[in-house]
Amino acid sequence: MPMDKERVGTFYDVVWTEYVPEYEASEKHWALFFSPAEVAGKAVLDAGCGTGIFSIIFARNGAASVTGIDISPGSLETATGLKEKFGLANARFERRDMLHLPYPDAAFDIVWAWGTVHHTIDPFGAMTELFRVLKPGGAILLAIYKKTKVTWIHEAIRRTLIRTPRWSWNVLARLMAFFLAPVVFFFKKREKSRKGEKLSELILDWYFVPIRHYYTPGEIRTFLEGKGFAVENYLAHSGRFDSSSNFIFKARKPA
Ligand SMILES: C[S@@+](CC[C@H](N)C(=O)[O-])C[C@H]1O[C@@H](n2cnc3c(N)ncnc32)[C@H](O)[C@@H]1O
Repeated sequence: MPMDKERVGTFYDVVWTEYVPEYEASEKHWALFFSPAEVAGKAVLDAGCGTGIFSIIFARNGAASVTGIDISPGSLETATGLKEKFGLANARFERRDMLHLPYPDAAFDIVWAWGTVHHTIDPFGAMTELFRVLKPGGAILLAIYKKTKVTWIHEAIRRTLIRTPRWSWNVLARLMAFFLAPVVFFFKKREKSRKGEKLSELILDWYFVPIRHYYTPGEIRTFLEGKGFAVENYLAHSGRFDSSSNFIFKARKPA
């Protein structure tokens, strides 16, 4: 595996393996885009499943099969533990790179990629690969970091922090969370974030991750529509702040 990708996998092994967002809050988030009726009997790919919460949600909402893939073995281990805890036979987790999937064309009815393609070395390549494995008429969900006027500030902070020694990351993130907590509280106008997401864990994800790309919703819409996809649902922010948030597209592949 190329070095950069290796670093992303190792990063999520170190910082996120213990982190499982709260089930009910995540399911409410999921329900903004999918329903049990739409999912029943379907084959789902959760691309960059992390610790697997959305795979579990699809599996418990009637999917025939859910394949959660990730490059972080630690996250996959946590996801497998979660599957066992819920006693689910219709979910499986595999270590795969979403840039080179071993699945045939049109293998899945639904592809879910929440907060993941922007952490690959080639987000448009990753999306193209996800489009390939999606059936004609199938639905894809993409949650992607938004490029805003202040993105350069986030990037300046991230590029500085990723140079600090790894042993200090948890301490630094907790310190930053301590100082940022009142600001977050003050500006918390809308609560779209999944509950259970700890500020220090979000800070690790924002500011210490080795690869992070940002896009405007227009760039992704143009890409989707250029491939013939029809946008069915668009949410401008997934989180508390526009400047550190994902925007989300649910789009349908031409039949
Ligand atoms: C921010 S986490 C999101 C996890 C999960 N989707 C969620 O919302 O809880 C991003 C995940 O993408 C995974 N990832 C990054 N690059 C990847 C790649 N090339 N192939 C598969 N997974 C990848 C990371 O290992 C990490 O688990």
